[in-house]
Amino acid sequence: MQRPERSGYAEGMYNRKTSLKYVAEWFYLGETVWVTWDRTSWKNKPVKHQPDWPDGAALDEVQKKLTELPPLIFAGEARELTARLGQVAEGNAIVLQAGDCAESFDGFNANAIKHKLKVILQMAVVLSYSAGMPVVKIGRIAGQFAKPRSKPTETIDDTELPSFLGHMVNDATFSEKDRRPDPQRLLQAYNQSASTLNLLRAFTQGGFADLNRLQSWNLDFVAQSPQGKRYEQLAQEISKALKFMEVAGISPDSAQFQETDFYTSHEALILQYEEALTRKDSLTGDFYDCSAHMLWIGERTRQLDGAHVEFMRGINNPIGCKVGPTATPDDVIALCEALNPKRIPGRLTLIVRMGADTIETGLPPLLEAVKKTDHKVVWLSDPMHGNTFTSDSGHKTRHLDSVMKEVTGFFAAHKKAGTWPGGIHVELTGDNVTECLGGAAPIETADLQKRYETMCDPRLNANQSLDLAFAVSELVR
Ligand code: PEP
Ligand code: CO
Repeated sequence: MQRPERSGYAEGMYNRKTSLKYVAEWFYLGETVWVTWDRTSWKNKPVKHQPDWPDGAALDEVQKKLTELPPLIFAGEARELTARLGQVAEGNAIVLQAGDCAESFDGFNANAIKHKLKVILQMAVVLSYSAGMPVVKIGRIAGQFAKPRSKPTETIDDTELPSFLGHMVNDATFSEKDRRPDPQRLLQAYNQSASTLNLLRAFTQGGFADLNRLQSWNLDFVAQSPQGKRYEQLAQEISKALKFMEVAGISPDSAQFQETDFYTSHEALILQYEEALTRKDSLTGDFYDCSAHMLWIGERTRQLDGAHVEFMRGINNPIGCKVGPTATPDDVIALCEALNPKRIPGRLTLIVRMGADTIETGLPPLLEAVKKTDHKVVWLSDPMHGNTFTSDSGHKTRHLDSVMKEVTGFFAAHKKAGTWPGGIHVELTGDNVTECLGGAAPIETADLQKRYETMCDPRLNANQSLDLAFAVSELVR
């Protein structure tokens, strides 16, 4: 049998009718079974955590519009990130992936982006300086607008409404109108992502991330805290080193010191959106999801025969997959095979989120299993999602002690297995919120009500983020 023509697409855009023709085609080539992939082949698989869009025609129209809009990132940038993550997989760099649990359409402003970037840059400097290694900085930003929820509906006083699924889908306000999934929100998410990315590009390439300015990244409310002072000391040390380099004839004015690479990522949850932004790269002919540099599969949608794995296996971006406490060694190997059959270093990042009490027993079998194969993955610790609980005050929260305990367990497991703990994946904000407990300037249960502003999960504030960075920097040292 002949291999079917796989691409019936126009460059840059595509015709959904033509592509549908190829969806279910497969054929034998010797002993190998080839299964064709295209942007819509996920539709042949069971799909979880999708909104119940009330108006299919309106969704189709929005999706068509999205296919015509410019890509947010470029294939070359995604390839560059794969290469950087490849260095992490080899044990020569560290990843810091961080940002909101869910970005919001409300209160969207330049300062919030700037503050978040400052905190991430500060954490990266702390990590990089103590590890003596580059830090690959990836934001959960410019696209992190959709959430899988434990229940599809929420009931208050006998009224049952769809759960809040992120601003890309509906609003958090508990009313029928607000909770109704509205496809126009996909366009708003695209537009907000575009303007966020524009500002991030300006900040990171335009002098803001200049190492000579690292003192200015300390946020006002952080500067007087124990963490802020510790950061200040480190910044002074680095400044001295930079001055020394200048004296020695190495110019800290070079682009290497003045610019930084910053990549975007989000959970690829709403597949109509991701499909529409997936484009064929004119240089290589490969498909890239141009909604972000890196996309990940969540813990609730990582089924091997599911739509999310199907979609993600065909895009050429670097991808992540959450790995929770129920993942078996066989599951993880099967995910590696499905998502990275060509074994490209940096292509696949496994983001472990087991919980502080489970990591010690749960992670080692997975590390050993992958070690026995020729898969080179990046291992990240997400110490947030396995450590959420409801406080006596009724807030969904996390304690920094548990977060640190999980990260410590993650590093210990890698040390024992002789594998590389590639870095951390955390939920944080640059705002002075009170959502997570603990820290050197501790947040107590009574403080939670003061500035609990998250759209979804509780985030570390800037102080707690620095606390975590210093703790991790001691582990990587
Ligand atoms: C998240 O990262 O916000 C999330 C929902 O994580 P997980 O899929 O690991 O539960
Ligand atoms: Co979250």
